Amino acid sequence: MRQPLVIANWKMHGKGAFNQALVEAFLAELKEYRAQCVLCPPFVYLGQLAELLGSSDVMLGAQDCSHIAEGAYTGEVSAQMLRDCGAQWVIVGHSERRQYHQESDALVAAKLSMAQHAGLTPVLCVGETQEQREAGEAESVVKAQLLGALDDLPDLQGLAIAYEPVWAIGTGLSASPEQAQAMHAFIRDVVTDLDATNASALRLLYGGSVKAGNAAELFAQADIDGALVGGASLDADAFAAIVSAA
Ligand code: PGA
Repeated sequence: MRQPLVIANWKMHGKGAFNQALVEAFLAELKEYRAQCVLCPPFVYLGQLAELLGSSDVMLGAQDCSHIAEGAYTGEVSAQMLRDCGAQWVIVGHSERRQYHQESDALVAAKLSMAQHAGLTPVLCVGETQEQREAGEAESVVKAQLLGALDDLPDLQGLAIAYEPVWAIGTGLSASPEQAQAMHAFIRDVVTDLDATNASALRLLYGGSVKAGNAAELFAQADIDGALVGGASLDADAFAAIVSAA
């Protein structure tokens, strides 16, 4: 049985007072829930959130990490530094990083390896664009992203994968539960070929316009083990409702 996992990706949103109000309201809203829950603020707010989360079960994550361990790389933040600030998780290969920062599969693979060495649990993001889906290439694109990032990883233990179709991110156009389930089943097949021992325990998250209103039907699918939530994670009530639905 895979424990549900719900991750908040705040992206480049936040401000001291807003963060405090959001986290306090979210923790107050959360009552009965079974899911593991992770908040990923921008780097500069990790320390603030570590304090706000205190001894709660809600964990802390970052949205990215460097592919290098240490050195003269202005502006980079290493996986070890994230660990030092209290993060336990890190998102890698988000489509916005791939699109706006030209991150290749090889770079994503190097980040995954850094994250695991630092003791962080990486969440690898994959997903196709609208054009790729229309051209019938969704599965081949996702498979290439998975193989490009995971081929050199010794085993897939301690990893989560988020399927985020690019056309569903921030658009309000979520994939249907059936579309998402079909891709999740495909991803599980691909990872089974890579590491049959750990594939069935691997958690596969769906991301792309997840809201309080569509979370339950997505989570009801056999291979959807949780969600990576952008926009709705900035609203305490909406995010608490998604975590409760998981
Ligand atoms: P969204 O973003 O929930 O705002 O669509 C999801 C993501 O990009 O992780």
